[in-house]
Amino acid sequence: MFIPGQVSEIRLPKVLRFGTQTLQTLIPELKLYPVKRIGLISDKGLERAGVVEQIAAMLREAEFEVTTFTDIAGEPTFPLLARTIRFMQEAKAELIVGLGGGTAMDTAKATAALMDKEDPQPYMAGTAVIPNRTIPCVVLPTTSGTGSEVTYNAIFGDEATEVKRGIVSHALLPDVAIVDPLLTLSCPPKVTAASGVDAFTHAIESYIAVRATPLTRMYAEQAMKLFAPNIAKAVHFGSNIEGRVGMSMVSLLAGIALGNAGVGAVHALAYPLGGKYHIEHGVANALLMPYVFDVTAATCTEAFADVAGFLQLGDYAHRPHEAPQAVVQYLYGLLRTLDLPSTLRELGVDEAALPLMAQQASKIDRLLNNTPYRLNEQKILGIYRKAYTGF
Ligand SMILES: NC(=O)c1ccc[n+]([C@@H]2O[C@H](COP(=O)([O-])OP(=O)(O)OC[C@H]3O[C@@H](n4cnc5c(N)ncnc54)[C@H](O)[C@@H]3O)[C@@H](O)[C@H]2O)c1
Repeated sequence: MFIPGQVSEIRLPKVLRFGTQTLQTLIPELKLYPVKRIGLISDKGLERAGVVEQIAAMLREAEFEVTTFTDIAGEPTFPLLARTIRFMQEAKAELIVGLGGGTAMDTAKATAALMDKEDPQPYMAGTAVIPNRTIPCVVLPTTSGTGSEVTYNAIFGDEATEVKRGIVSHALLPDVAIVDPLLTLSCPPKVTAASGVDAFTHAIESYIAVRATPLTRMYAEQAMKLFAPNIAKAVHFGSNIEGRVGMSMVSLLAGIALGNAGVGAVHALAYPLGGKYHIEHGVANALLMPYVFDVTAATCTEAFADVAGFLQLGDYAHRPHEAPQAVVQYLYGLLRTLDLPSTLRELGVDEAALPLMAQQASKIDRLLNNTPYRLNEQKILGIYRKAYTGF
């Protein structure tokens, strides 16, 4: 519903292209820029899968000079970002291509934005906001989950505080995002499952977010509708093009909603798991989602009735108070269907660490203030304890 006086805004890359075979438009798109030296940022997994060489060869054939940085294993940290920026500064890269999931894309976006900074530290620490991007940035997502191809944030592990932290600036929005679902065909089932549920987290959290607007809800709704029929297909039948196309679209739409409305408590509680235990972002979000909504959905039952409808769980419009449980049960069951862990104990989290994690999560105001439920440290600890043992 439009509220008079409310401002709805969507920011997108200048070019956003979606579809199978759209990778073929990469070279013509790059030729529009007066550049010769391209910095290709990706990671070890994609190198092993042969995808990095496939793209590097395309670039070389088109007579670009290519410098490749793939020294990334696991999710990115601020020291890694600093190293990547230095590497690309020395290579004098004139344009950055980010090839990969959220890890490679976030690193590429932040590198392209910070290339002219001799000391990028204040921007990484969050004490300065990046004013503008230095060199063009083109991204090619290879997972279907983070939506990083259309967001203006980038997330890194902070080794000092052992919590993940986002840097946010419009300068992080890529110039060009080419979403070719064929690039996700080689994505392993576990990554497909975790990143796919991550996309759903973006859709549902942005749908109920305090900052949600009619425009962002439209994207979130469509993402949730496409999620249910496609997630299991993409995970269990990885070469099924329909499932891959569906999940790439879910990721993209949910990314637009997330980028412009923000996410909430599920992400806040996931950050300490990523920072200290290096649990993949998608795995952490997928696991925590049912436990968090079990508590927080109480204040937004009508929105959960909508969500139950999008997931085809039944018509809860006249009994919205029952909708949260239907959604929570669906999400909990999904963990098993997709072979994802369903308790913190399974992930090897130390039970004695839960109070510190609750303290860390309770400080992530950016996300907690965007949640339509007031969570304090005590309540967060209660959620972690439940997630430790399971329902
Ligand atoms: N900027 C944002 O808006 C945003 C949103 C959500 C998450 N994130 C961040 O994104 C990161 C997670 O990204 P992700 O879930 O996409 O996973 P990822 O980028 O970390 O990739 C996971 C693994 O899958 C491999 N992989 C990816 N695509 C593949 C393919 N097609 N074939 C073979 N292997 C492939 C990678 O090599 C890696 O080993 C986290 O750091 C998270 O915090 C950012």
